[in-house]
Amino acid sequence: MTLSATEVNELKKAPAVEGVLPIVHTRWSPRSFADRPVDPADLAKVFEAARWAASSYNEQPWRFLVGVRGSEPYRKIFDSLMPLNQAWAKSAPILILGVSKTKFSHNDAPNRVALYDLGAASSYLTLQAAALGLATHQMAGFDPEAARKSFEIPENYIIGAVIALGYQGEPDALPNPQFVNQEVAPRQRKPLSQFVFSAWDTPAKLA
Ligand SMILES: Cc1cc2nc3c(=O)[nH]c(=O)nc-3n(C[C@H](O)[C@H](O)[C@H](O)COP(=O)(O)O)c2cc1C
Repeated sequence: MTLSATEVNELKKAPAVEGVLPIVHTRWSPRSFADRPVDPADLAKVFEAARWAASSYNEQPWRFLVGVRGSEPYRKIFDSLMPLNQAWAKSAPILILGVSKTKFSHNDAPNRVALYDLGAASSYLTLQAAALGLATHQMAGFDPEAARKSFEIPENYIIGAVIALGYQGEPDALPNPQFVNQEVAPRQRKPLSQFVFSAWDTPAKLA
């Protein structure tokens, strides 16, 4: 008997830290999505959040290709996914492909932070989705060149990640035991001492 979606949400929640936005601790990446469509107004809100991310020179280099299940864009994104991701992502009602422009519009110079900016916008998107009760699961496991070809994405755009979006489903709806185990496992993170430094590999002294 596996845990229910509600029980899993409790288990996935990171321990609260006073003053940290609760949504940061409650967002997590399920693989099981409910068979429930996403209100287009809510979908617009997640992109509205992405819109207001900071970016170098305010270039806003991100572009998102969005597919609703049953549509041509959805099929193109889905077809680019690795089989292991297809196995669970097929339950997601929305698939999003994030790409980013690698040259600045004002002078055509290379933008070495294009992917960084796409990542920032994508993080806003995932947190806004969580605030609306929507789940997201980002994926690097897809063929970027297949996606480029099917969408005719120009060469001066770098392909980022795919994001599955929808309402969280029940863990026992997943197609194999490995996915179920991952779905009900607690989330793990490194302590701050392993990534906040004052000199290389030396933990910064924080409060
Ligand atoms: C850029 C990126 C690529 C990812 N690629 C995959 C993937 O291809 N397949 C998958 O199942 N999960 C993928 N994940 C999900 C991560 O495994 C997950 O975010 C991580 O384990 C932390 O779990 P949490 O999001 O529930 O906190 C990816 C996440 C990110 C941010």
